[in-house]
Amino acid sequence: MKSNTHGVRYLGSKSKLTSNIVEIANSLTVNEKTIIDVFTGTTRVAQAFRKEGWKVTTSDLAWASECYSDLFITSSSFKHLRKYIEDLNKLEVPKEHLGWLAKNYSSHPCLVWSRENAAKADCIRDNIEKLEISRKEKNILISSLIFALDKVDNTVGIQQAYLKGPKSPRLNTSLFLTLPEEINGPIGKHIVGDALLIEYENAEIAYLDPPYTGADYSTYYHIWDSIARWDKPDVGLKTNRRKDRIKSSNSRDTSISSPWYNKKTAYEATKTLIERLPVEWVIFSYSNEGFISLEEMKQINGFFSLKEIEHKRHVMSSIGAGANPHAKQKNKEYLIIYKK
Ligand SMILES: C[S@@+](CC[C@H](N)C(=O)[O-])C[C@H]1O[C@@H](n2cnc3c(N)ncnc32)[C@H](O)[C@@H]1O
Repeated sequence: MKSNTHGVRYLGSKSKLTSNIVEIANSLTVNEKTIIDVFTGTTRVAQAFRKEGWKVTTSDLAWASECYSDLFITSSSFKHLRKYIEDLNKLEVPKEHLGWLAKNYSSHPCLVWSRENAAKADCIRDNIEKLEISRKEKNILISSLIFALDKVDNTVGIQQAYLKGPKSPRLNTSLFLTLPEEINGPIGKHIVGDALLIEYENAEIAYLDPPYTGADYSTYYHIWDSIARWDKPDVGLKTNRRKDRIKSSNSRDTSISSPWYNKKTAYEATKTLIERLPVEWVIFSYSNEGFISLEEMKQINGFFSLKEIEHKRHVMSSIGAGANPHAKQKNKEYLIIYKK
C-alpha cells in the first residue's frame, strides 16, 4: 500500500514503502509519537509519519532536503505563499537571459532543461532570494521550483548522467510551479548535517534509511543542492557537477562526504549511529543488494525483529555507480527493528 506523499524522483526513495514503515512504528510500544527520520532524502517517509500524528525530526546531509522539510514537516501553514507562486509563474524572462542554470544545464552535453525553462528557473530562483519573507518561506518556494524542474528535465532522475540529445518529451513542457497540499500534523524540525555528528533531541523511534551502495547522493543530486543554496558555484566534469563535489578538486567540500558510500566503513558507521541515537527503537531499511550483509545487521546490539518486503526494482537502480546490471527484477527490502 502506498501513502500519498510528494517528492522529487530519488534513488532509494521509500515512496512505495511508507505505509509498511508507519505500520511497524505504530505497532511498537511508545510513550509519545516522536520519531527521527535520520536520512530523510525527499522527506516522503517523514510526510507519512506526520500525517499519522507523529512529531518528526528530519535530517540529511543534502541541502535540498531542508527545503523539502520546510515545506512538508516544519511548517504549520503556507497557503499565503500561493500569491508568490502565481507571481513567479508570470515572471517575464529577459531575452537572451543566461543565468547559472541556463549557462550550465541547457545545452549538449548537459542538456538537462530546455533553454527556455532553465532561463525561467534562473529568474524565479533569483526572485525568490530577493523576496522579503523568511528563510523557511523561501525554502517552500524553492521546493516548488525544484519539483517543477524535476517534471520537465531530460534525465532518468539522477544528475550523474544526462540523456544524450533531447530524448525526453518532458523537455518541451513549460515549467510551471504549484504548491502542494498542506500536511496536517504536529510541527517537526529539520537539521542539516551528518547523522554521526548531529546532537538529536530524545525521541521514541529513529527510522534509518542510509545509502546502501557507492551511489553518492551529493553527486547524484548536486543541482538540487545548488538551487537550494543558490551559490552559483564553478562546475566541472562532463556533468557540470559543482567543483566542490569533485573528488580530485582542491576545493572539495569534505563536510558532505559520508561513510555509507564505502563498503569498508558502512557497517561500523551503522553500528555507531544505532548506538548514539537517543531513542528507544530503531527501524532500519535494509536491502539485500547493499554493502552490509543481513547476518551482520542481525549481530548489532538490540536486534529485535525483521520484516521482509518484496518490491519491484526502480529503473534508477540499474544506472550509475550503484547499478547492478545482473540484478533480478525484484530485490528484497527488509525492515529491521532494534530495541535499545
Ligand atoms: C536512501 S536515501 C534516503 C531516502 C529517503 N528515505 C526517501 O524516501 O526519500 C539516503 C539519504 O542519506 C543521506 N545521507 C548520506 N550520508 C549521510 C550522513 N552521513 N548523514 C546524513 N544523511 C546522509 C543522503 O543525502 C540521502 O538523502
